[in-house]
Amino acid sequence: MYAGMAIPPSSAALCAPLQRVEAMARVALIGGPTPIEELVQFSAAIGGPRILVKRDDAIPFAFGGNKTRKMEFVAADALAAGADTLVTVGGVQSNHARATMATAAKLGLKGVLIANGEKPVRPTANALLDELLGADIEYIATRAERAQTMVDVIARLQAEGRTPYAVPLGASTPLGSLGYVRAVGEMLAQMDAPDVIVHATSSAGTHAGIVAGCALHGVPTRVIGVSADDPSRDIEERARDIVRGIAMLLDCDDEVLRSAPVSVDEGFIGDGYGIPSAASHEAQRLAAQIEALFVDHTYTAKALAALIAYVRAGRFAPTDTVLFWHTGGQVGLFA
Ligand SMILES: Cc1ncc(COP(=O)(O)O)c(C=O)c1O
Repeated sequence: MYAGMAIPPSSAALCAPLQRVEAMARVALIGGPTPIEELVQFSAAIGGPRILVKRDDAIPFAFGGNKTRKMEFVAADALAAGADTLVTVGGVQSNHARATMATAAKLGLKGVLIANGEKPVRPTANALLDELLGADIEYIATRAERAQTMVDVIARLQAEGRTPYAVPLGASTPLGSLGYVRAVGEMLAQMDAPDVIVHATSSAGTHAGIVAGCALHGVPTRVIGVSADDPSRDIEERARDIVRGIAMLLDCDDEVLRSAPVSVDEGFIGDGYGIPSAASHEAQRLAAQIEALFVDHTYTAKALAALIAYVRAGRFAPTDTVLFWHTGGQVGLFA
């Protein structure tokens, strides 16, 4: 069994809810703050203000990405519940699934994945990693079958005498989202609060965590989530629900969190989830060719495409500092 329980840092300077976050059980997966780098050439190429990138794609654990931060809290909860198996759902190329199966492997737990999509003849990218991680993979045809299959698989595992723990899609629960509440503190230890944060969003846990983190730290940063799939209204509603859940979890159901602005842009989905667009192609090539930074068409290239479009539309002041929060997904480039 992996013994990497995180040691809470000194939290004397934090407000009470943030102290509660630091006091909560967490499994150490991140391995320290991710770098923040200035994208000087990228900014010059698009005529932008100061643009920085927070490199959550560079989290060392299992190819990193945003799910690793969420899994720190979720996995600790699973261990506290006495789980011996982590079960989750996702597409065949899901980053979340890979992060969950990697966490199971690291903690000495069994990993069971319900993957919607066709079983690949020769697994690539995340599907290959899931297999290498020793996950038990059950393929289902459609997303619609996910919920019932999860119920069935949990019942089967229990009948076999196991103690399964269901990790919900994207680990976007209030508990998982605390990973991004913490991440805001990590960012603020590295730089002054940016004027704007742009990032990719879908199940909304990352967005909710960043929004709640900014509110609890009292910084006025505008947070823009760029949808990978669903309409703005749906993701915003999801994010608000999670922020409300965070408030309850931290026992701080006050105005600071209730009034935290949630803003999602649905304008860069293009033809749909995972389908490259002309704008995501441009963002992907530009970032690679002048910064050696890799973004994927499902999530991060679309968010970066939005950032480029905002610059071109004059939505930022020349004095603004814009942070692109890179949420990972680079494994998808090899699918
Ligand atoms: C690379 C990447 N970026 C962003 C997201 C969206 O994060 P969230 O599900 O927390 O909204 C995901 C979700 O799978 C992801 O894999």
